[in-house]
Parts: sequence; structure tokens; C-alpha cells
Amino acid sequence: MSISLSQTLHPSSANFRDDVIEGLGKSPRWIPCKYFYDERGSQLFDQICELDEYYLTRTELAIMERYAGEMADQIGRGVMLVEFGSGSSIKTRILLDHLHKPVAYVPVDISQDHLRKTAEGLRLRYPEIEILPVCADFTEDFGLPTTSRPPTHDAVYFPGSTIGNFQPDQALALLKQIVRLCGCGGGLLIGIDLQKDPKVIEAAYNDTEGITAAFNLNLVDRLRTELGVNLQQADFEHHAAYNSKDHRVEIGLISRVDQEVKIGDHSFQFAAGELIHTEYSHKYTIDGFAELAAQAGLTLHEHWTDPDGLFAVLHLVIVE
Ligand code: AVI
Repeated sequence: MSISLSQTLHPSSANFRDDVIEGLGKSPRWIPCKYFYDERGSQLFDQICELDEYYLTRTELAIMERYAGEMADQIGRGVMLVEFGSGSSIKTRILLDHLHKPVAYVPVDISQDHLRKTAEGLRLRYPEIEILPVCADFTEDFGLPTTSRPPTHDAVYFPGSTIGNFQPDQALALLKQIVRLCGCGGGLLIGIDLQKDPKVIEAAYNDTEGITAAFNLNLVDRLRTELGVNLQQADFEHHAAYNSKDHRVEIGLISRVDQEVKIGDHSFQFAAGELIHTEYSHKYTIDGFAELAAQAGLTLHEHWTDPDGLFAVLHLVIVE
């Protein structure tokens, strides 16, 4: 399956060239959002999470702080908790602090380095929980590790609204994979960004400090430094607009001028004003997400939201 991945994947640049050549040849043109997250891009993303306009991170954190006890009750005793992502966030620790006698915690990430660092820190903090990192791309099938004590059930934790960066059919494929991974009796705790006033959403992706623009335009620097492409940031403009029909922010780079982009033997003609898509960020309703998840075999069990209804954390279960 072909999927726009998240910041949690930290892909190597091995496929960068091929993916860019393929994506720029498409109509509309695309560069997959997984390529945002080199070292500089990851630093910029951390800064985005601190921005006043970017309500997602602090709102999800507040929900976790307030309701982690209830979430732990819903998840139940003796779980093997599998996190999609390296698990280095405060949200993970809040959840682990509240879980009832979890057997194991399994961070799944493509970056060996991130996993090693996270696992070292978590082993010190939670000596009673087996920390079993798995180095894998969570959008592909992978096996769960064997624990020394058998878990009562498995559950996936997928915070951050990263599911929003997948197109609905890709999100459905990922949810089906979670069902295969955890099996009957398993569960999913997931963070989703909710539909709201488009002005609030657009502000989150067009911050006044220009950090999101820098995050997006960092791709141009990657093209130049890693692929030797003849481009400068000044040749492009950051674009982020909410598409109310498809309930998603569409993020991209607009060419400021007519220009030719050459990558080795490949050449692409850009007209001034032409857009390269770099990311979609889908916004859901709780019912809409529950409907999507039901198609994968997940039933909404409980959900928690903030007083303004900006963001939600959902607990879904796999029943036969
Ligand atoms: C990682 N993901 C949930 C972020 C989002 O809001 O879709 C990525 C992001 N793109 C621009 N700002 C933040």
C-alpha cells in the first residue's frame, strides 16, 4: 500500500530521490510528507507544537492529563501497549503512569536511534514494565515481540492526530492492520483532530511566526542539498488552506516563477502559481471516525475531548 507517512517514521533519504521524481511527475504534483522530518524538519515540528496557533498538541496533552486514569480503566489490566511512534512524548509517560499493571510497552519506529534512546529512558523510569522496542515501518505488517509474562490483551496507542496525515483509504488500511496486529479483545487509543471553524484550523497551519512555512520550505533545502536540485526557498511560497468539502488542510509549495526543476536526467516544468502538494491533514468528527473505524472492525467504546471540542482521544475495541 502506498501511504503518506508521519513524522514518526524518520525515513532515510535512500528513497527520497525516487519518491520525488515519481511525485513531481504526478498530476497534481506531490512530495510525500514523510520527507519533512529530517533533523531540521523535526526541530521545526517541535517548535510548531509550541505555537499559540497550533492548538493540537497542548489540547491533546490536556485531555491526557485530565482523563488518563479513565483511559487506563478502559484499556484494562495486563496490557501489552504498542505505540506507533518512538514513544518519547510526555503523552506516553502520562499514559504509562496510569495503566494498570501493563506487561509490556512496545514503541514501533523506523529510526533505530530514536528507539534506542526512548527505550533507555523508559527502562529507567518504568523498571516493572518490559520495554520491547520494534524497529519497523508501522504501515507495513510486523510481528509483536514475545513477553516474559503473557499479556491479557494488546492495544495500540497512536497519538498526535498523525492518522490525519493519511488519506481516508490509507487510514482505513492502517486501522485494519491494527486489527490484525491486536486481534480480538485488543484495542486502540487514538488522538484525532476535530472539524471546527476553518479559520482556527487555517491559523494553525499559517502561523504568524512563519514556523510552519519554514517547516514546509525546508523540503526545498533538502531537494537542493541532498538531490543537487537547482532550487532556492525563495523560488517557492508556503501554502496551507482548508478544504471544507473534504475536511482537510491541504499544504503545499507554490512556485513563485516559471521554472525548470532538474533531477539528474529528469526535468519538470513549473508554471508560476503551480502547486506541489506536500501534506494533507484530515479533520474528523467523532462519529465520522467511528464509522471509518467500524469498517476495519473497531467499535468506539469511549471518547474524551476538551471543553471547546477541538481535539478528541478515542478508545476503540476489537470485537468479533
Ligand atoms: C504530524 N501531523 C499530525 C501534523 C499535522 O498537524 O497534520 C503535521 C503538521 N504539518 C504542518 N503542521 C503540522
